[in-house]
Amino acid sequence: MRKIKIFDTTLRDGEQSPGASMNVEEKVQLAKQLANLKVDIIEAGFAISSPGDFDAIKRIGDEVEGPVVCSLARAREEDIKKAWEALKDAPRKRIHTFHSTSDIHLKYQFRVSREEALRRSVAMVGLARSYVEDVEFSPMDATRTEIGYLLEVVEAVVAAGASTVNIPDTVGYTTPEEFGALIGAIRQRIGNKAVISVHCHNDLGLAVANSLAAVANGAGQVECTINGIGERAGNCSMEEVVMALKTRRDFFKVSTDINTKEIVRTSRLVSKITGIPVQPNKAIVGANAFAHESGIHQDGLLKEKTTYEIMRPEDIGLQSTKLVMGKHSGRHAFKTRLKELGFTLSQEEIEGLFERFKRLADQKKDIYDEDLEALVSEATARTPELFSLVDLSITSGLTQKPTATVKMKVGEEIFDRMEHGDGPVDATYKAIVAISNTKSTLRSFDVKSITGGTDALGEVSVSLEEEGRVVRGNGADTDIIVAAAKAYIDALNKLAARKKS
Ligand code: KIV
Ligand code: ZN
Repeated sequence: MRKIKIFDTTLRDGEQSPGASMNVEEKVQLAKQLANLKVDIIEAGFAISSPGDFDAIKRIGDEVEGPVVCSLARAREEDIKKAWEALKDAPRKRIHTFHSTSDIHLKYQFRVSREEALRRSVAMVGLARSYVEDVEFSPMDATRTEIGYLLEVVEAVVAAGASTVNIPDTVGYTTPEEFGALIGAIRQRIGNKAVISVHCHNDLGLAVANSLAAVANGAGQVECTINGIGERAGNCSMEEVVMALKTRRDFFKVSTDINTKEIVRTSRLVSKITGIPVQPNKAIVGANAFAHESGIHQDGLLKEKTTYEIMRPEDIGLQSTKLVMGKHSGRHAFKTRLKELGFTLSQEEIEGLFERFKRLADQKKDIYDEDLEALVSEATARTPELFSLVDLSITSGLTQKPTATVKMKVGEEIFDRMEHGDGPVDATYKAIVAISNTKSTLRSFDVKSITGGTDALGEVSVSLEEEGRVVRGNGADTDIIVAAAKAYIDALNKLAARKKS
């Protein structure tokens, strides 16, 4: 079977979703999970765009094993040099350079002629090739580019050394039949001299359909993001395209290397890190994607699963919640379960997590896989801590004014503060703000329960804004007010880290 490469751009194009910015630690954490998912290429960022992107690409290149690590670069010398600097120590690396080719972009945005755009593209592919073997070129806004000129550009950049030529539907304008024909024409023109990649945006809700049509017409790489996040209406959703290719292998006759059992975990991690929830009816990873409500469907399913299920929930890593551990579980069982769940952690990280696990087991009788996943992601994506919660006590009720007493560590010193508020969270946040002496504004506050039951671990996610910067903080605890305090303090630590960098 022909293999389709999966190029993940969650960390680059996905991060361009409004409010989805991620810090370096979060990007590294997500890249490690993308490696568990077995994507072929990780587009880790746009090296020249910010020091944070540069550091993330560098760290991912140094620390994440398996996938090729890629940096985006405009067709400019300084961009390509910066991409090389970020990537140079990575064992497997790619530079992805791009230049617009549509008349609309050339005339109104770049004010250059077609000839000049072609010259720059060829020259910059050549420059990128002087640094790395693996070079990808994208003619931006390809689907609104005059086809004769597009073919000329594609042929020229391949001759200049691009091993992958990516055809972006930058504004989500094309349709499956039209895009399939375009990819077929490019295939005819360049044969097997380079891999044809596609990069579809979802403005008309067609990104996955367009990508599939491209695969059917010879594309060998699909660019996509987890949960389909990205600029405007987002990008082609990785889980949808991968599961479509797998489920309809009979039709497409292609395969990918994706370990589909990691899909749900990756989707949850992206949602948690970016704070962008997954809509319940979203294909593959939505909460209702495998829920059957109608009586007729339920009857069919009970008789034979394939009557109404075209995919098995287990194939995407969706297990019926499994009871794993409790207070008497030992270090060995804990470590083994984390390994089974796919976490590769250092001995030091495991020790720290085991302490947290024991504390949780004192509060909560049964601990499920989801609880362990929450523990790991809370502990491993932490920013260096300026602020930490030492203690919190609350009084509130129908007739009492909610009061919070917070004890917090700031640097090496410990402070106490008591505050009243409209509710226990309000009182707690007032005390935290007073101790930390910070001036951020709370933009959003979301609470969700990780498993069922009154002793469930609650996860709180907040976003704070200060001087135009928006950061997201997460906290998990069986006590929802403690989780809310942890989330707020996590966000404050992120703001403090950003100020320092
Ligand atoms: O959508 C787009 O055209 C892009 C390119 C940089 C590939 O993201
Ligand atoms: Zn894009």
